[in-house]
Amino acid sequence: MMKREKLSAHGPEFSRMVYGTWRLLDTKPTTQEINRRLHACLELGITTLDTAEIYGLYEVEQVLGAALALSPGLRNKFELITKAGIYVPCSYHPERRTAHYNATGPRLLKSVEKSLRFLGTDHVELFLVHRPDWLTRADDTAAGLNELLRTGKIRAAGVSNYSASQFDLLNARMEQPLVTNQIEFSLLHPEPINDGTLHQCEKLGVLPMAWSPLAGGRIFDPSNSAAPRLAEAAKSMSSRYNAATLEQLAYAWILAHPSHPLPVIGTNKLERLQSAAQSDAIVLEREDWYALWEAAQGRKIP
Ligand SMILES: NC(=O)c1ccc[n+]([C@@H]2O[C@H](COP(=O)([O-])OP(=O)(O)OC[C@H]3O[C@@H](n4cnc5c(N)ncnc54)[C@H](OP(=O)(O)O)[C@@H]3O)[C@@H](O)[C@H]2O)c1
Repeated sequence: MMKREKLSAHGPEFSRMVYGTWRLLDTKPTTQEINRRLHACLELGITTLDTAEIYGLYEVEQVLGAALALSPGLRNKFELITKAGIYVPCSYHPERRTAHYNATGPRLLKSVEKSLRFLGTDHVELFLVHRPDWLTRADDTAAGLNELLRTGKIRAAGVSNYSASQFDLLNARMEQPLVTNQIEFSLLHPEPINDGTLHQCEKLGVLPMAWSPLAGGRIFDPSNSAAPRLAEAAKSMSSRYNAATLEQLAYAWILAHPSHPLPVIGTNKLERLQSAAQSDAIVLEREDWYALWEAAQGRKIP
């Protein structure tokens, strides 16, 4: 069964791998089909769901809420993560001229109210500021998050796509420390290893979350020069890991980082979800971890 981890000393406990809903509506599933996928997650020990106000151009949360509501008590079997702070013009919001970030306190409060209504719940286990807003003072963002924490509408607060210094600044204004930074991290996006974000998480004792852990599928795309090298590397080491696939090794590569990132799985296919869930049992040998890095980068380590 899937392991579980606390995001920080006082943070929520999540499944080691999280199910992400960004692409949930891509295949136009029915509410029943989504409900079945949620039950499949639970059977695999994946109890944490990642969503955001903007997913599916503001439609995913509502559909997810409807799918949760189909089975009495289902919502309480999950930890819900949602995010807000990105606002784009769309059919619901013709008044918007330009896509923009807004992490002002009042804006976040308004977005969370809407998310709770759509998800059919009175709280989420974790709320993230989706992107740093270049025009808002940290005091303003923190005031909104602190208010949401005080009212219990969000049980923990974190950020996404923040640099280490942006995280530091906001964290210094929080009444309860931030519990995660959800960042892009994969074999094809290894920058967080050296840009200070993962070091900061390790230093502060908060677990990062890794979005697009398979680089949005690009690790399999033959038109990407890294894909054949990764396929070859995976083939050469697979027998040491119970015939693990590239997909599973790519998750294991993230899980092996000392900051303990939680990968956010993005597939819409049940069999890929099942195979992903087996990755937390793989303990990559040091040389294989570096071999995958070299295959992804197409060069030797410096
Ligand atoms: N915080 C942020 O700013 C942010 C940004 C982006 C994403 N996220 C979160 O991270 C989650 C995961 O992101 P992601 O969807 O980009 O994750 P991902 O796992 O890197 O990519 C998923 C994509 O890869 C494809 N794929 C998976 N296995 C494959 C295979 N063996 N061969 C070919 N294609 C394959 C999937 O297609 P199938 O569906 O056909 O399997 C899907 O289109 C999102 O759902 C969201 O919750 C957060």
